[in-house]
Amino acid sequence: MDQVNVGVIGFGTVGSGTVEILLKNRDIISDRVGSEIIVKKIADLDIVRDRGIALASDVLTTDPSEIIRDPSIDIVVELIGGLTAAKDFILKAMQAGKHVVTANKALLAECGEEIYSAAGKYGVSLAYEASVGGGIPVIRALREGLSANRIHTIMGILNGTSNYILTEMSKNALPYKKAVEEAIRFGYAEDPPTLDVNGTDAAHKLAILVSILFGVPVPFRSIYREGIECLTPDDIRFASEFGYCIKLLAIFRNLGDAIEARVHPAMVPLDHIMANVNGVYNAIYLEGDFVGPNLYYGYGAGKKPTGSSVVADLMHLSRQIRCGVSTLIPPLGYSRPGLMNIAVQPIEELQTSYYFRFSAKDTPGVLSKISGILGENGISIYSVIQKGRDMVGSVPVVMLTHEAKESSVIKALAHMKHLEVLTDKTITIRVEGSK
Ligand code: NDP
Ligand code: HSE
Repeated sequence: MDQVNVGVIGFGTVGSGTVEILLKNRDIISDRVGSEIIVKKIADLDIVRDRGIALASDVLTTDPSEIIRDPSIDIVVELIGGLTAAKDFILKAMQAGKHVVTANKALLAECGEEIYSAAGKYGVSLAYEASVGGGIPVIRALREGLSANRIHTIMGILNGTSNYILTEMSKNALPYKKAVEEAIRFGYAEDPPTLDVNGTDAAHKLAILVSILFGVPVPFRSIYREGIECLTPDDIRFASEFGYCIKLLAIFRNLGDAIEARVHPAMVPLDHIMANVNGVYNAIYLEGDFVGPNLYYGYGAGKKPTGSSVVADLMHLSRQIRCGVSTLIPPLGYSRPGLMNIAVQPIEELQTSYYFRFSAKDTPGVLSKISGILGENGISIYSVIQKGRDMVGSVPVVMLTHEAKESSVIKALAHMKHLEVLTDKTITIRVEGSK
């Protein structure tokens, strides 16, 4: 076959990046694949807006079913985001015998099972490189390059928007709100951006990575997640006084009888491998039983890096089509079902060090009240910083602890709610990596 026809649903940030790459790099793409990849149709709600790409007049449509019904279209690319309509288009495309490419991590993390089994049922391929890490080919690495290994650790900065926000807050003193607005303007953020800053987007991506490790969709709701919304420039400053920076980390560890899968802000030492991953960059560190450590780094969002991953998927599927192969690699990379059940360890079982920022009245005995409750719960203090008064007479009391169990921390903080010397919610950040 000399030509592979593609229909793109969603002509926004990633859709326009994808089409731009297919047109601008058409020569090397066709030389590498051995077939031309032709964008036959593009569907979007708005086909009037100028996307800066010259297209023939019959390419744009407002009706995605024109793509799904078109028998000449081999691959459907879903780039609208969200759950309901996206799932409907993908399932209908598969039913019509078309291969599917998507960047929709929310959909794969929350409804993956239905989509993976539809791909199997209809004998088509599903490719989703752009769903994790923007332009970083980590899905291909896990499904192919590292497939001989059992992966026992993943640590990732998987959300470009929150990493951009934390970097701007710490390096350029940008207020939180302004940094969020910029991430939206650059096309990094989800719609709504709440999913980026509350840890959901990174948890979606972690769910996809972990599902590939075991060949079975991990129950998304069992992944603990916490976002960066409560962090203030003060926390970033105090962390740096202790020799740490704050990153939104996605962490997986295979504990043998269960796994750790969690997303939350974490303090990492300034010389930690994740500490210098800044701006919209993502990084994924993983360890396999035979390969040892591997590190991936690159732009985690944006039209061009993400479009690059979508086009790589299109090239891979086009090669398959050219060779008359319907499916080479099943969606999760397992030809026989993997583990049937993944048990995620409850966060209460976690054992780590903690940062606490208490807002306290500047009165005698406060420190001893706080440290008394921590001591009663078996939490031992490693270091304390106390700063001068703020406008309303409360002071930040900042502590780093030795390793403690999360369930003890939960108990201690619940007890402290009754301390009338504390004037506001206590900020807690887990520490990852020792100094
Ligand atoms: P955008 O909002 O920029 O683009 C989505 C486009 O799809 C919009 O033009 C939208 O129109 C259109 N659309 C929405 N619903 C329909 C529909 N029912 N029929 C036809 N068109 C529709 O999103 P992105 O390009 O940023 O994201 C697309 C996907 O890629 C998402 O799943 C996202 O999570 C994922 N992704 C995004 C990255 C990024 O950097 N932006 C990186 C990695 C993955 P309208 O604007 O009028 O609603
Ligand atoms: N909103 C996502 C991010 C896009 O900021 O990382 C890339 O998946």
